[in-house]
Amino acid sequence: MRFPIYLDNNATTPLDPRVLDAMMPYLTDNFGNAASRSHEFGWRAEEAVELAREQVAKLLGASAKEIIFTSGATEADNLALLGVAEMYKEKGNHIITTPVEHKAVLDSCKYLEKHGCEVTYLPVDKYGLVSPDDVRKAITDKTILISIMSANNEIGSLQPLEEIGKVAKEKGVIFHSDAVQSVGKVARSTCRRSSASARRARSRCSCSTKKRSA
Ligand SMILES: Cc1ncc(COP(=O)(O)O)c(C=O)c1O
Repeated sequence: MRFPIYLDNNATTPLDPRVLDAMMPYLTDNFGNAASRSHEFGWRAEEAVELAREQVAKLLGASAKEIIFTSGATEADNLALLGVAEMYKEKGNHIITTPVEHKAVLDSCKYLEKHGCEVTYLPVDKYGLVSPDDVRKAITDKTILISIMSANNEIGSLQPLEEIGKVAKEKGVIFHSDAVQSVGKVARSTCRRSSASARRARSRCSCSTKKRSA
């Protein structure tokens, strides 16, 4: 047995050798900027980014144009919460979440509370799970967003996303899920549209294929 034993792969984990292989050409020879449209280095990088976009879309059951890459999950969560709050401020100011979300969501909620939003933190049971019925009861006519994670980063609980998604759809509320810890690990649909308005909300989903860093 090799010591010390590392048990925190949900925080920081070594890069999968397949990812390293796939990335190596772009970290060495093909190092162009995908936004540079006027030369071959840029074109090659753009091609690679578009291929990655299609692969991620396939993994999530989305279409490639729905995938927005961010620098990491914190940025994606920020974008989702602050984006919805800004876009729907005329409709309402109420957000529903749980106290067991990652800090990336909780800190965004704290920020929004300081700027006029009301946040309901629904309790979880002894398994760390939120009740879809509690979600339903918490929705008011001011609710603009439900943000509930897919898999918990510390205890691994898998939230009942399908049921919560149904409640969100029925009530016409956008449903965001931080799916960082489940994408690529657990087969579940984490990125379904929950309402007509969600269809228009670009920042509805912060799925991130992860380079783990707590
Ligand atoms: C559930 C969850 N959300 C957000 C993050 C933040 O991720 P990042 O370091 O990419 O910003 C993490 C980090 O591991 C996480 O586990």
